Amino acid sequence: MPASSPGGRTSRAAASPRAAGRTVSATGGRTVAVPGAAKAPAKKAAQVAAKAPASRTTAQPPARTAPAARATVNKATPKAPVPKKAPAAKAPAAKKAPAAKARVAKKAPAGTIPSSLARGQAAGVGPTGRVTPTFPEPKRLRKHGPARILAVCNQKGGVGKTTSTINLGAALAEYGRKVLLVDFDPQGALSVGLGINPLALEQTVHNLLMEPGVRAEDILLTTDVPGLDLLPANIDLSAAEVQLVNEVAREQTLARALATVSDDYDVILVDCQPSLGLLTINALTAAHGVIIPSECEFFALRGVALLIQTIEKIRERLNPGLELEGILATMYDSRTLHGREVLARVVEAFGDKVFHTVINRTVRFPETTVAGEPITTYASSSGGAHAYRELAKELLAR
Ligand SMILES: Nc1ncnc2c1ncn2[C@@H]1O[C@H](COP(=O)(O)OP(=O)(O)OP(=O)(O)O)[C@@H](O)[C@H]1O
Ligand SMILES: [Mg+2]
Repeated sequence: MPASSPGGRTSRAAASPRAAGRTVSATGGRTVAVPGAAKAPAKKAAQVAAKAPASRTTAQPPARTAPAARATVNKATPKAPVPKKAPAAKAPAAKKAPAAKARVAKKAPAGTIPSSLARGQAAGVGPTGRVTPTFPEPKRLRKHGPARILAVCNQKGGVGKTTSTINLGAALAEYGRKVLLVDFDPQGALSVGLGINPLALEQTVHNLLMEPGVRAEDILLTTDVPGLDLLPANIDLSAAEVQLVNEVAREQTLARALATVSDDYDVILVDCQPSLGLLTINALTAAHGVIIPSECEFFALRGVALLIQTIEKIRERLNPGLELEGILATMYDSRTLHGREVLARVVEAFGDKVFHTVINRTVRFPETTVAGEPITTYASSSGGAHAYRELAKELLAR
């Protein structure tokens, strides 16, 4: 039954000719990863993750000495132009404070980027410390499918999984790819982020997983972005984690459910929930590749090492074709030493698996969630939109 959403989205009936009960081989068309190639990074990652960034080791202050600790971190910032700030900070008069602040604010961006990095940037070296290639403009496709299924996964919460799924999906659609986004998180944030109220929906991914008669086409919604479709979810999905336990081949449930639509799309992005439970295992079993968004923060780095181990287990036991597509640094702030250090560690551990494209921290992303649309349409010429377009080009060039 067609359902309509506030954004004018409509549920799409099965339009294309699909043979009932047709299945797509779980590894069909997938590139099988070279065994061991991904193991090396995992081991290295474990070692690297065990080391705390230098700034952490110096900053272990009791609460009251926090300002002093901050000063230590600032000193460690290479070539930070501090001399002029010192007198300003000492200034006793209250009136002088705003002036001092203004000066600090102006100098911050230049002062916190090491001159070596600035030279590197001039030579084409990106924030990951590697020369950034120019990714070609993706060629338009004449026909679509079969889809490459990518799980956007990290068991740590709030690292940018949903934001990356929406915006990478929208950017890929701009380049003419047919993209299906799968909301695989009972929070339903992906659906909300596309302007849909998932609580008002009669059928969602939960029905798709649990009811044999429901097909992906039955719950599919189109979005305002041409070429971008959605399988929505809501809190009902949380029950699936328990209900699936009694199913035969429970880990393959999502793979089976996507089989009827995967030939219609070029890319399917599955937005995972922040856990390594059965739903996430399903996403990793259905996927050809995993994109790991990771905040540029120390604890996030440790989580990535753990996730890589899980991916290896899934590859060994359930999905031999599963590849680590790439690690995406999100919420990056080049002005903080900590962010730069963590990014350097991620590149040290995972090398070329780290996307050259880095997503900067900007308030435009939370704004897009409120607006219920991707940044590529909400703020089309913003840095954030540009970054996800670059990521789309990089992904297609891999
Ligand atoms: N690059 C960014 N800069 C600033 N804020 C961001 C950025 N990316 C995401 N955010 C914001 O951070 C919050 C968490 O992002 P998001 O929901 O994408 O993370 P998540 O990993 O999907 O979270 P969860 O684990 O809860 O599903 C959101 O409010 C989002 O708007
Ligand atoms: Mg999310």
